[in-house]
Amino acid sequence: MPHPFATHVGVRRLVTAATAAPSVHNTQPWRFRLHDASVLELHADPDRKLDVLDPRGRALYISCGAALFNLRLGIRMTGHRPLVQSFPDNVDDPNLVAAVAVEEAPMPSSTHAELYATIPHRRTSRRPFSKRIVSRAVRDELVEAARAEGAALGMPGPQTTAYLLSLVADADRRLVADDRYLTELARWTCGRGRDDGIPWYAYGPRPTGRGLPMRDFGLAGPVTGRDADDFAVRPQLGVLLTQGDEPADWLLAGQALQRILLTATRRGLSTSLLSQPWDMQSGSRPDTGATRPAGHIQAIIRFGYGPPVPGTPRRPFPAVLQRTQKGWK
Ligand SMILES: Cc1cc2nc3c(=O)[nH]c(=O)nc-3n(C[C@H](O)[C@H](O)[C@H](O)COP(=O)(O)O)c2cc1C
Repeated sequence: MPHPFATHVGVRRLVTAATAAPSVHNTQPWRFRLHDASVLELHADPDRKLDVLDPRGRALYISCGAALFNLRLGIRMTGHRPLVQSFPDNVDDPNLVAAVAVEEAPMPSSTHAELYATIPHRRTSRRPFSKRIVSRAVRDELVEAARAEGAALGMPGPQTTAYLLSLVADADRRLVADDRYLTELARWTCGRGRDDGIPWYAYGPRPTGRGLPMRDFGLAGPVTGRDADDFAVRPQLGVLLTQGDEPADWLLAGQALQRILLTATRRGLSTSLLSQPWDMQSGSRPDTGATRPAGHIQAIIRFGYGPPVPGTPRRPFPAVLQRTQKGWK
């Protein structure tokens, strides 16, 4: 099998798959660097960190983890296995998140191939979902996706769902009253003709305040003619947990998140995230109370059946890849 980093086309395919990952406010806080066509490095881009919303860099590392999962899948599709070294010691570059080498391996399972094929179809949907229930079999598959990445996914019942949504609503109220939050939000929304940030067509309807406390991306510069809509009062939530709450755990959470989201997409589900409780938190964890003993909550995911939504833009391949040696084959 040809080495996946040996050609321009091969690296382009891998990096394009990686950058299709979700990222907080679509900041795409990553850079890739290829060393001697043998190691592909994933770096966090500190210029794209949300200093107000994400002072610890938690959302940044989760975003990088999601990109790393796609990169791993892409490598599996080439008849190789990724050899990932997370946070290698590198005094020259504190932003180095992972160094990825490869070794030959049997072709991937059909599950891997299907998840890879799903990458371009996954997107965040901020529209209301139908009342259709997510079946037990699909929920079990989502739980297994988290476990396969060393994380856990809880599927809360009505009481815990109500509690979690009250936390999200409280946090959302706190955020929208904060000018620093709104100023930063404006920087990553409202842009036209951009290849990052959240475009107006992805905002979804304006939440009415009844039902689910969706984050309103239209706050910083309202889109005219945007309809309001009610969101379900008791949506199907998933709670992603890790054992620790440090950068390595956030990177793991990002990989698990992306595996869950791709698994959900493959099963016809729409998804979105409710991250408000973590925003602007500089302490080690938000107050997520009763669910704490099971681990650290890293994400609240909303699952359901919704209408198709358009994809969001990404920065082009040359903007995110740096090479340290000349000469592609
Ligand atoms: C760590 C993280 C936190 C996120 N938090 C939210 C959120 O609170 N609300 C929301 O609607 N989307 C959230 N998103 C989704 C991003 O806004 C979305 O991935 C990005 O705009 C790119 O769009 P796409 O997912 O459709 O490709 C989050 C994504 C990540 C990775």
